[in-house]
This record gives sequence, C-alpha cells and structure tokens, in this order.
Amino acid sequence: MKENTIAVLTSNDVKHTNADDVMGFAQNNDLFYLSGIDQEDTILILYPHAFKPENKEILFVKETNEHIKIWDGEKLTKEEAREISGVKRVEWLHDFEKILQLIAFEADGFYLGHNEHIKRVTNNQQTQQDRMINWCKEKYPLHDYYRVAKITRALRPVKSSLEIDLIQKAADISVEGFHRVLKTVKPNCKEYELEAELTYTLVKNGGTRHAFKPIVASGKNACALHYNTNDNVCKDGDMILLDFGVCYANYNSDTTRCIPVNGKFSDRQKEVYVAVLHCLKEGSKLLKPGVHFTEYEKQMASLVESELIKLGLLKASDVATQNPDQPLYKKYFMHGTAHHLGLDVHDVGLYRTIEAGMVLTCEPGIYIPEEGIGCRLENDYRITKTGNINLTHAMPIEIDEIETLMEASHYIQKTS
Ligand code: GLY
Ligand code: MN
Ligand code: MN
Repeated sequence: MKENTIAVLTSNDVKHTNADDVMGFAQNNDLFYLSGIDQEDTILILYPHAFKPENKEILFVKETNEHIKIWDGEKLTKEEAREISGVKRVEWLHDFEKILQLIAFEADGFYLGHNEHIKRVTNNQQTQQDRMINWCKEKYPLHDYYRVAKITRALRPVKSSLEIDLIQKAADISVEGFHRVLKTVKPNCKEYELEAELTYTLVKNGGTRHAFKPIVASGKNACALHYNTNDNVCKDGDMILLDFGVCYANYNSDTTRCIPVNGKFSDRQKEVYVAVLHCLKEGSKLLKPGVHFTEYEKQMASLVESELIKLGLLKASDVATQNPDQPLYKKYFMHGTAHHLGLDVHDVGLYRTIEAGMVLTCEPGIYIPEEGIGCRLENDYRITKTGNINLTHAMPIEIDEIETLMEASHYIQKTS
C-alpha cells in the first residue's frame, strides 16, 4: 500500500431468489483471503501507518440479537472473529462509519475493493463494493483512491502451503465423487443422476458447494463448452464429459474426465481420448517456473493441431497454408487450457510468468459435434521449483483404468 492510506474491504451480499429465500452466500474472496471471516456483513480496515497502533487493523462484524439468534442461529462473537482473523481489534458493524471518520482525515487515501477479474459479469448487479466506493467517495471526496485488487491479485496467485492443502482436500473429494460416478453410470441413466453423486460426495465430505455447477454432458452435449442443464439421457454408445469441482473451505478443485456410458470406449472415442490425453501429458510439462502463459498456450495449440491432423479432422496441407490469425484448429478446439485455481475457480492473476507455488489447471479438449464427441481432460497442478505436481493424480484417467473400474462396478450392479 502507498504511504498513509487505508484499505477498506467489504463482504459480498447474500443473494436472494424470490420472496425471503436465499441462493446462498459466497464470501468476497479478497476479504476472506485477508481475514478468514466467512460471514456476511463484515468489513476489514487496514491502516499500516496509523498513528495509534489500535487503528492499524480493525475488523467489523455484525452484532447479533435475539431475533437473529432465534431465526438464523449464532453469528460470530467478537472473540471468535478475533481468533479466526488474528485481528486484535474487532468492532460491531454499526460503528463502522463513526470509527472510520475518526481515522479518515489522518490518512491521505483509500484502497477500495472491486471485482477486476477479466471475465467478470457485471450486468445489473450493484455489489457491496460498488456501494462502498460510492459512499466513500461521497463522504471523503478529496482523498486519493487506489485499488485493492491490484495488490490482492499480485498476492493470491502464489499459494501458501495451507492453501495448497485445502485445494488438495477439494481435489481428493472430487476423486471420491468421480469413483461414485463410475459406479453409477449405465445406459439410460440421466445426466443429473451423475450430478447427484457428485453433490452427495461433496456434502458428505464437508465441502462448501460445487466449485461451479457441474457439467455432465453426454454425447454431443459435450461440444457445448458450458453445458450444465444435465437433463438428458445418457445413451448406450455415447461418451460423457464431466467437468466438476469441489469448493472446500472456499478453495476449489477443477477437473474433467470423459467416460463411456456403457463402460467401453468405441474405437473413435478412444482415438480422440488418446489424442487429448497426449496433449494433457505433454502440455502439462510446460507448466513450470519461467514459462509465459502465451508461450504455453501457443505450444498447447500446436500439440492439439498435430492431433487434429492425425485424427483426420484437419489436412496438413491446409494447416501449412492457413491464415495464422484464423487457425483451423479453432473449429475443434476453442478455449484456453490453463487458469489459476484457488479461492476463485478461475482465480485472479494477470500477465505473469509461471512461478513456484501457483496452482494451475491444464485442460486441453477436442470437440467434434458432427460425430457427437466432445473430449476434455483436466487436472490441477501445483507448480514447484523444478516443474509441477499433479494434485489430481489419484483421479483415474487412463483408458484401461477407467474401463476396468467400470467393469468391476457393473459386476457389482448386476449382483447387488
Ligand atoms: N469448468 C470451468 C473450467 O474448466 O475452467
Ligand atoms: Mn473445469
Ligand atoms: Mn478449468
């Protein structure tokens, strides 16, 4: 932070459905990152250069009352909030404006939070951060203003060992969920029945929520990259793409596997699967310190391009003369293949070469709608000083392994 400035971080809103029901609560990740507080109506103030030591860090939480206790249950006490956050001074939220005013004129500027994710969706949503920006600028118009997100997105990509443990835990729950799916899938089951197995596993293991609504896409549905209605029948002979993740203690996993509905990949499905698996194995080797994302994506694209030629989907002669601004592979492979993973599934982090401590996905795919085949494979990698470690290595991925497990579980289904 710049000299003599105050950072103000707010929690997220609780989102409502209709009437008095709620969709749920997901904490603001920057606030959570700096405080560990997972409760609505929370504000964190950081003022490193404050004259009085007690003003350097102040956490505001909502004071409970009899009504809240009776209807919603317990909220954090000041002692609990202190213990979780490590912030010594905890105040009630209703004193925020008064306390801020006591220190505001001592400072020269404010750092305020805002969603600066390059893929953010901002249509018609006024967030608590928007309201804080408006309020603060109105109350303190002559202060300087700076962006919290510039600092947090520099900090968050390199994970601590505790954060990595939580991502690993999320990944382990995903592995268990995938095994349940392998045992459940059979011709004519519904995609949502497989989603239910994932939901069961994550709830049973204390997961907070799905990292995102699972994609359970059979047959050609797998060619719609974010298909997630999951309401189709899984047909004999089709392959199913499952892209799913677990959010555990607010940290996420993100994995994709493809499996045959009837337990055996067809020859063509195998060809496509092997091609994508090759790209995953080779491409993931590029995820190591010093590599620039652009270079990684360029090399991954060239791996996929070679596989598309081998699969007979592109002609080498056409590729040799293609317009480099409109490469032909985009017809069958149209998305990025790595992103940071952490408190956000598409975690924050911009324009930086890869560093040890980052956690990145690797997720090549090939989509052939005319053949009803969409195949993506996705693992999560922790970057080390010399390369990477696959946090999702326990999730079966080899064709033989998947077929053998499915055969064993079909045997159980038949005999049980
Ligand atoms: N499911 C989103 C992703 O794989 O990035
Ligand atoms: Mn995914
Ligand atoms: Mn992903």
